[in-house]
Amino acid sequence: MSEPQEMTTPDHSELFHPSESIVENSNVMAYARSKGLSSYEALYQWTLDNNEEFWADMANELEWYEPWTKVLDDSQKPFFKWFVDGKTNIVHNAIDRHARSWRKNKLALVWEGEDGTQRTFSYHALNREVNKMANVLKSVGVKKGDIVTIYLPRIPELPMFMLACAKIGAAHSVVYGGFSEAALADRLADAQSKVLITADGGFMRAKIIELKKIADEAMSRTPTVQTCLVVKRTGHDVNMELGRDLWLHELMGLPIASAECETEVVDAEDPLFILYTSGTTGKPKGVVHTHGGYMVGIYATLKMVFDMKEDDRYWCAADPGWITGHSYIVYSPLINGATSIMYEGAPNYPFPDRWWSIVSRHSVTILYTSPTAIRGLMRFGEAWPSRHDLSSLRLLGSVGEPINPEAWKWFYGVIGGERCPIMDTWWQTETGHFMITPTPVVPLKPGSATKAFLGVEVDVLHEDGTSCGANEDGLLTLKRPWPGMMRTILNDPQRYVDTYWTKLPSMYAAGDSARKDEDGYIWVIGRLDDVIKVSGYRLGTAEVESALVSHPAVAEAAAIGLPHEVKGNAIHAFVILRATFEGSPKLEDELRSHVGHELGPIARPDQITFVSSLPKTRSGKIMRRVLKARAQGLPEGDVSTLEE
Ligand code: PRX
Repeated sequence: MSEPQEMTTPDHSELFHPSESIVENSNVMAYARSKGLSSYEALYQWTLDNNEEFWADMANELEWYEPWTKVLDDSQKPFFKWFVDGKTNIVHNAIDRHARSWRKNKLALVWEGEDGTQRTFSYHALNREVNKMANVLKSVGVKKGDIVTIYLPRIPELPMFMLACAKIGAAHSVVYGGFSEAALADRLADAQSKVLITADGGFMRAKIIELKKIADEAMSRTPTVQTCLVVKRTGHDVNMELGRDLWLHELMGLPIASAECETEVVDAEDPLFILYTSGTTGKPKGVVHTHGGYMVGIYATLKMVFDMKEDDRYWCAADPGWITGHSYIVYSPLINGATSIMYEGAPNYPFPDRWWSIVSRHSVTILYTSPTAIRGLMRFGEAWPSRHDLSSLRLLGSVGEPINPEAWKWFYGVIGGERCPIMDTWWQTETGHFMITPTPVVPLKPGSATKAFLGVEVDVLHEDGTSCGANEDGLLTLKRPWPGMMRTILNDPQRYVDTYWTKLPSMYAAGDSARKDEDGYIWVIGRLDDVIKVSGYRLGTAEVESALVSHPAVAEAAAIGLPHEVKGNAIHAFVILRATFEGSPKLEDELRSHVGHELGPIARPDQITFVSSLPKTRSGKIMRRVLKARAQGLPEGDVSTLEE
C-alpha cells in the first residue's frame, strides 16, 4: 500500500499566491487599513505589540450585556481569565441579535439528510426552536451550572440543543454519535449529568445506528441520569423507560415549550461546554471552554481566515460532536451571521459525488474539511467532481492532521479550480480556535499551516526552551495566552497544569512536533504523546489498550498508529494472550469487534498481532516507538532504556 504521508518530501520553496482581488477585498486587509497599516505582516506585528487592543477590537464587534473591566487577567497563570467581569451569553451573539435585525429572515442553517430530505431554518425560526428546546430543558429541571450530555446524530437538533443549553447557562457535553456505550458512560459519569439527550437512532449509509439502545446501556451504568430526552429521527421501535425517557416531539407540543425564553446573563468566564478528548492516559480529559473569550476567538478567526461575507454559503463538513463542529459549524458561523450547510450522512453515499452535488446544488462558496476526507474522495477519481459545477467555491479549508501535498494539490486543482486558496488551519480541542493558519492574503505552501494567526505567538523549541534553528524538529509551543483557550480540565485542574504548562517554562506545550522553515512557515509533523490520529479523530493508545485488556483473552496490549493511505494512521495492536488462549484469525476478529464495541467503530484496530512479549523500559513502560520502528522496518533509535 502506498503511504501518501511519506510519498513527497514537502517542497519548502513552492509558493501559491492569492489573486489581487482576493487580497483587496479581504476582511483582514480591511481591518489592517482601519489601523493605518498596509501589509499583513505589519498587521501581525501590530497585534503582538498591541495584543489586548487587538482582542478588545474583536470583542467590541460583538454585543455585551455589561462591558469587561480588564481584557486579560494573568495573575493566576495558567488559569487565565479573559474579558474579566464582562457579562454576555454566546447565544445572544449567535442568535438573539440577528433575530432582532434584518437577518431574521436570512437562512441560518440548511440541513440535508442522507435520504435527500431538506430542513431549513432562518435566524427567526432557529430562535423559536432553540427557545422551545430551552424551555423543555427547564421543564425537566436543567439549571444554570448543570452539565447536559448530548448524544445525537448529525441532525439540526444537535446544534439546537447545544444552543438551548448555552441559552439557559447550562454547559453541554456533546459525545460524538460514533462513540460506544462505554465511552458515553465514562463521560456521563465524569460530568455527573442528570439529563441525557439522544435520538431513537441515526442514519449512516442508509443503515440505522442504534443510538437509543447504546444510550440505554450507558445509562444502566450511570445512576446520575434522571431524564433522557429522545429525538425521533428514524421512527423505528425503541425502548422508552417510564419516568425517565421522554419524546422531544411530545414535549415540544405542550404549553411548557413556549417560543419565548429569556437568554440567561452569564459571566464571560462561565463554562459554555465540556468536550472530552484523548490524552496519554486511558481517562479522557474534559476540556472546559467558556462563553466570553471563546466567543471572541472563534468569531475573529472565522471572519478573518474564511473571510466571511454576508452572501457566503459556508459548509464545514465535520461532525458537530468534535471541536471543529462546535466552533465552526455551530457557534462561529452563527455569530458571524452566516448561512451554513450541514449534511447528515457519508461523503460517498449513494455515490462518490455526493459532496460535489451538495456544493453545486447549494452554491457553496466556502468548504472546510479534513485531509482524510479529501484523500477518501480523491480515490474515486476526477470524473465524480467534474460532473458538477463547482464554480461557486471561493475558499477551501483543511483541519485535523497535516495535509500531504498530493491531497492539497488535488483539492486546490480539481475542486478549487486553481482559484481558491486553501486555509490549512492548525488548532486543537484545547485551543478552541485556529492558532496557526493562513488568511486569504498569505502565500501558501502545500502541507504547511503557514504562520501564527493574528495576536498569536508560535515557536518551535528545544526541550530546554531555546528556539530551534530553521528546519530543526522541536516542540510546538504557544508563547502567550489567547481568548478561546481551554480554562481547565473538568474535575482535574492539576492535570491541566501538568499536561500543558510544565513542559516548557510559562508556555503552552501543544504536544505536537514541528519544524519552522527558513521563511518562518510551520510544518507540523505529528503528535509527540501517545495519541493516534485516525481519520483526523484523536484516540489515545491507552484507550485502545484498556479496551483490549477488558477482553477475557487478553493479558497485555500495546497500540500504535501506522501510516495509512486514506485514514492518515491506522491502529495496529500487539497483544499478549492469557495462558489458556491461543491466537487465531477468529480471535483477532473478535478482539477487533470488542474494541469497536467498547470505544466505537473508529477505534477498531486494522491489524492485531499476537506476541509473547512487548518491548518495555526497565520501569515497565511499553516502548511504542520501538514497536512502530520494527513494524515499519525502520531503525529502532535509542534503545538504551529497553529492558530486553
Ligand atoms: O496534531 C495536531 C492535529 O490535531 C491535533 C488536535 O486534535 P483535536 O484536538 O482532535 O483537534 C482537531 C481539530 C482542531 C493537533 O495537536 N492537527 C490539527 N490541525 C492540524 C493538525 N496537524 C497538522 N495540520 C493541521 N492543520
